[in-house]
Amino acid sequence: MKRENYSILFSSVTGNTKKLADAIRETLPEEDCDYFGESGAAEPVSELLYIGFWTDRGNADKTTLELLGKLKNKRIFLFGTAGFGGSEAYFQGILGRVRQSIDASNTVVGTYMCQGRMPQTVRERYLKMKEQPEHPTNLEALIENFDRALPHPDAEDLERLRKAVLS
Ligand SMILES: Cc1cc2nc3c(=O)[nH]c(=O)nc-3n(C[C@H](O)[C@H](O)[C@H](O)COP(=O)(O)O)c2cc1C
Repeated sequence: MKRENYSILFSSVTGNTKKLADAIRETLPEEDCDYFGESGAAEPVSELLYIGFWTDRGNADKTTLELLGKLKNKRIFLFGTAGFGGSEAYFQGILGRVRQSIDASNTVVGTYMCQGRMPQTVRERYLKMKEQPEHPTNLEALIENFDRALPHPDAEDLERLRKAVLS
């Protein structure tokens, strides 16, 4: 039986989501890959699409949402990174919002999310805020989350992604 061709499209500003895209590329047969690259650079030709996003204010980034909004009759594996994590429910909430941009003629064949490190400027902003007498009470938790995100995506995240892609 002929295996199905696929494309991998991703949006990644600081490189976290690209790491996931690279891991998928290394996992799937190269000869079946129609396209690998940034979302928005090309019209997706394959029926099976691996689409990667970074989380922007609780949803997928704008480029990915625009791409998803155009798709019809595709099979979509959604993967993404988010600065916050530690709970599957948080990821499911984001994925639920992302799915709202996908037309019903498409089928979501799989999903995967993990944490992705945030730029150091974010931590510096938290520390500055902490110096103010009137600062948000959850700053300590935000700083802890920032530090937890630093090593991600790590080797274990990528291994879980490979398993999800092959299942
Ligand atoms: C403008 C902006 C908004 C963000 N909003 C969220 C958010 O709502 N939730 C979250 O968990 N992470 C948020 N993040 C963190 C990124 O989603 C996270 O660091 C991601 O791994 C970046 O992926 P990339 O390296 O592929 O660009 C935001 C980052 C930026 C720059």
